[in-house]
Amino acid sequence: MRTNDVSRLNRSVSVVGQGCWQLGADWGDVADDTAQEILAAAADAGVTFFDTADVYGDGRSERAVGRFVAQRGDSSITVATKMGRRADPHVPSEYHLDNYRRWIDRSRENLGVDTLDLVQLHCPPTEVFEDPQTYDDLRTLVDEGRIARWGVSVETCDQALRALEEPDLASIQIILNIFRRKPLDEVVPAAKEAGVGIIARVPLASGLLSGKYDEHTTFADSDHRTFNREGKAFDIGETFAGVPYEVGVQAAREVAQLTPEGWTTAQLALAWIATVGADTIIPGASTPQQATANAAAGDLPALDDATLEALKGIYDSSIAQHVAHRW
Ligand SMILES: NC(=O)c1ccc[n+]([C@@H]2O[C@H](COP(=O)([O-])OP(=O)(O)OC[C@H]3O[C@@H](n4cnc5c(N)ncnc54)[C@H](OP(=O)(O)O)[C@@H]3O)[C@@H](O)[C@H]2O)c1
Repeated sequence: MRTNDVSRLNRSVSVVGQGCWQLGADWGDVADDTAQEILAAAADAGVTFFDTADVYGDGRSERAVGRFVAQRGDSSITVATKMGRRADPHVPSEYHLDNYRRWIDRSRENLGVDTLDLVQLHCPPTEVFEDPQTYDDLRTLVDEGRIARWGVSVETCDQALRALEEPDLASIQIILNIFRRKPLDEVVPAAKEAGVGIIARVPLASGLLSGKYDEHTTFADSDHRTFNREGKAFDIGETFAGVPYEVGVQAAREVAQLTPEGWTTAQLALAWIATVGADTIIPGASTPQQATANAAAGDLPALDDATLEALKGIYDSSIAQHVAHRW
């Protein structure tokens, strides 16, 4: 597993990390034992970066990660959590220091640590990113010893660029995948220049980029890929990366044709992100086998120019029109 040193994080992170939303059972049921097996499969394959959030399963994902890390006793592991979605996400006035302390103290308890490695603001409204008080509050939490570092999880490139103005921002989590290329224009180069970590989320476009779904695939009622297709529960961009499902299935077929021999299409999708420059990529997994296969992508070579060009062609002709103007 390759690793990247992120200077603002003051840590080295595995190029493939592990997304832990699924462990909260928000994607259909994931048993506690399965959650521990997924975490172990990832760590056994060299993953050292785990991404969770206080709202995943209302703390269930954090508790699973906390239990795992305590048992593992591996100081190279970084746990990133998030705060901000316990508030009504449409009410900027709910984002203030007292709430931050409350949310963070709950995460410290769930994760079983005094100081959280990295806390990311979890996709708050744009006003929150624009308010200098937000960043002062995050610094206060560092001074209080509640958190070691802070980062942001953003929906749009403009939000990322605003946060990048802060000299102690440690990381940006953003959707970056074969169907979401816009961060490559400004956000990724600016973050690299500043030593800010780029955490690529939804790397498989909620599984579309594994190439395994077709027009008849169905998902559990409790899975956001059923209930958030129209963006009814949260930002539609978090489900299939905001690409209309049938469009995504068809484009993923074209992506699959470019899969190098001996790789899976999901591994091609992860290798693309590593090639274009994320510090850590955080695929979610619903089975330990998926976690193992995803981690193996952290050893694959960079994609060649012909493959990169062909993938850009698929994006330009089928996908850009659905996503580029929004995020
Ligand atoms: N706002 C935010 O900050 C935010 C929002 C979304 C996600 N995230 C973070 O980003 C992480 C990753 O995003 P995501 O989980 O939404 O989407 P994702 O990683 O693009 O897709 C995950 C899904 O892809 C399928 N999959 C995974 N590995 C596979 C493999 N090797 N082969 C075939 N299929 C595979 C699984 O679907 P099946 O279950 O159908 O097999 C899995 O549930 C999350 O876990 C979370 O930590 C953060």
